[in-house]
Amino acid sequence: MQSGLLIDRRGRIARKLRISVTDRCNFACLFCMPDKKNIKFFRDEDLLTFEEIHRIVKIMTRLGITKVRITGGEPLLRKNVENLVKMVASTEGIESVDMTTNGWYLGEKAKVLKESGLRGVTVSLHSLKRERFRKISGIDALDKVISGISKARDVGLSPLKINTVAIKGYNEDEIPMLVEFAMEMNASLRFIEFMPLDGLGIWSQDMVMTGQEILEKIRQNYRISQVGRAKGETSSLWSVEGRGTIGLITPISEPFCDDCDRLRLTSDGKLLSCLFDVEYHDVRSMLRQGKDEREIARFIVSSVWKKPDGIAYMPWVKNGWERPRSMNAIGG
Ligand code: 5AD
Ligand code: SF4
Repeated sequence: MQSGLLIDRRGRIARKLRISVTDRCNFACLFCMPDKKNIKFFRDEDLLTFEEIHRIVKIMTRLGITKVRITGGEPLLRKNVENLVKMVASTEGIESVDMTTNGWYLGEKAKVLKESGLRGVTVSLHSLKRERFRKISGIDALDKVISGISKARDVGLSPLKINTVAIKGYNEDEIPMLVEFAMEMNASLRFIEFMPLDGLGIWSQDMVMTGQEILEKIRQNYRISQVGRAKGETSSLWSVEGRGTIGLITPISEPFCDDCDRLRLTSDGKLLSCLFDVEYHDVRSMLRQGKDEREIARFIVSSVWKKPDGIAYMPWVKNGWERPRSMNAIGG
């Protein structure tokens, strides 16, 4: 097999794979999880085993994937996830393995993750106020998450990033404080626009703090200069008085679909080529039916070919879109 085969109809070539290892989470962020009491999570047998994930990674690296990010739900809820990190990180052709986590278990897991070959972590943090954190993320965990971030820094997980979903009426007044906090932590902060992938269906355009609005808030306290967005990256970077960088991820106001180079593998073994796709390509069934690698590779190649144009070209997503899944079951 040659590399560079994961190409879609619009000529975009996939290089990054985000692997969700569970749809469960010990948090319940209002912009992600559905009402936990009323949903069915995947059963253990629905989840890909580490060996199955590794097989898919090996096939996909031969097709040109070089970077992996492990996500959830909350990936550190998956038992011994460090073993998966080790397997993926030592796969020929993989340049880096990073993780996106809510930070709860990072204090205890950071060291073993680093030793297993994890490169960096991105920790979600949407407020620095204890009560508000609880309101947004559904758990009283501010202190624990902050100590998780410190631990990640101390063991040398790098890049260390913080993700904040900025939502009107919830946390827009904290934007400068979050910038200051991230710089003190030596972490790169990314503000993400609220996307209509929330399990509760509360999304509305008026709740979105756009990238421009976020910049205005930052400019009230800091002098910032534009660095720009590298090809294939989601965030557009700004330097803050030479002390650090922040990023804006603007899928709603300024989508970056034209050079998207990422794919997703859900914890139940479906390949998803775009967050806003409605077609989930069932790789798990192929594995469990004993198909050989060539057949699986062909299936993946043809699934990627059908990648949708992206939210930039799908205006209906913002108007009462029927989400097939919410973020926890896709992998953020
Ligand atoms: N819109 C924007 N970001 C979201 N995340 C989860 N749900 C949403 C949503 N509806 C964030 C998480 C995590 C990142 C991967 O995506 O907080 O930091
Ligand atoms: Fe859990 Fe992350 Fe979803 Fe929050 S956004 S409920 S931390 S998976």
